[in-house]
Amino acid sequence: MNGGHEMSGKVVVNRCMSLDGFIAGPGHSMDWGGGRALADFVAPEDFAAIAAATGAMLVGRRTWEVGDEMEAAEPGSIDYPFTGPMFLLSHRPLDPPDPDVTILSGDIGAAVATALNAAGEKNLEILGADVARQCLQRELVDEILVYVLPLLLGNGIPFSSPSSTRTDLEPLSSTRSRDATILRFRVRKDAITGR
Ligand SMILES: NC(=O)c1ccc[n+]([C@@H]2O[C@H](COP(=O)([O-])OP(=O)(O)OC[C@H]3O[C@@H](n4cnc5c(N)ncnc54)[C@H](OP(=O)(O)O)[C@@H]3O)[C@@H](O)[C@H]2O)c1
Repeated sequence: MNGGHEMSGKVVVNRCMSLDGFIAGPGHSMDWGGGRALADFVAPEDFAAIAAATGAMLVGRRTWEVGDEMEAAEPGSIDYPFTGPMFLLSHRPLDPPDPDVTILSGDIGAAVATALNAAGEKNLEILGADVARQCLQRELVDEILVYVLPLLLGNGIPFSSPSSTRTDLEPLSSTRSRDATILRFRVRKDAITGR
């Protein structure tokens, strides 16, 4: 049973992170050095395999807007090889509307259930720090996948905010992929978390 659903994929929080724990730089910058994007660090076959295991994405509005800004500044900079159902968590419509994107709002549990259902037997990827925090708090996450990038940012948006709850993890794998290290953890829902 994954994400509270039988016969479904996993709910996976997917992040890249500097070695010192930042998921973006100051001002939400996603420049990982000399203009390099995540895809420049990871072996294409590993990136493609992770995307192929993904059946749907649930993205927070701020992450969406950062992606739009990056794409506007440098067309083609968002090059994740995923095609499939895309869900955007937001209280506001897209302007202009995008028929390929479903906007969800309100209860995070209902949003995850809808997106996971659309993923079929593949995984649902969660993108966005606040959205991931909500999902972890509600124990909706099965795995965390982190691409550790070889730099120290010193400052920026941290992996966890002070309002995050403690989450115990079981290591699943650690793989060197070109210049990145891909870490996978299972979220231990059976652990005593002190909550
Ligand atoms: N390194 C990585 O892999 C990675 C991945 C993703 C993001 N990031 C970074 O993380 C940052 C973005 O994360 P974030 O925590 O600031 O924001 P986020 O999780 O992307 O988005 C938060 C926004 O989503 C909407 N939202 C969240 N929950 C909702 C709900 N239940 N119902 C309706 N709307 C909801 C709200 O937007 P509205 O109320 O405005 O609609 C909220 O302000 C950026 O710096 C981005 O670059 C890094």
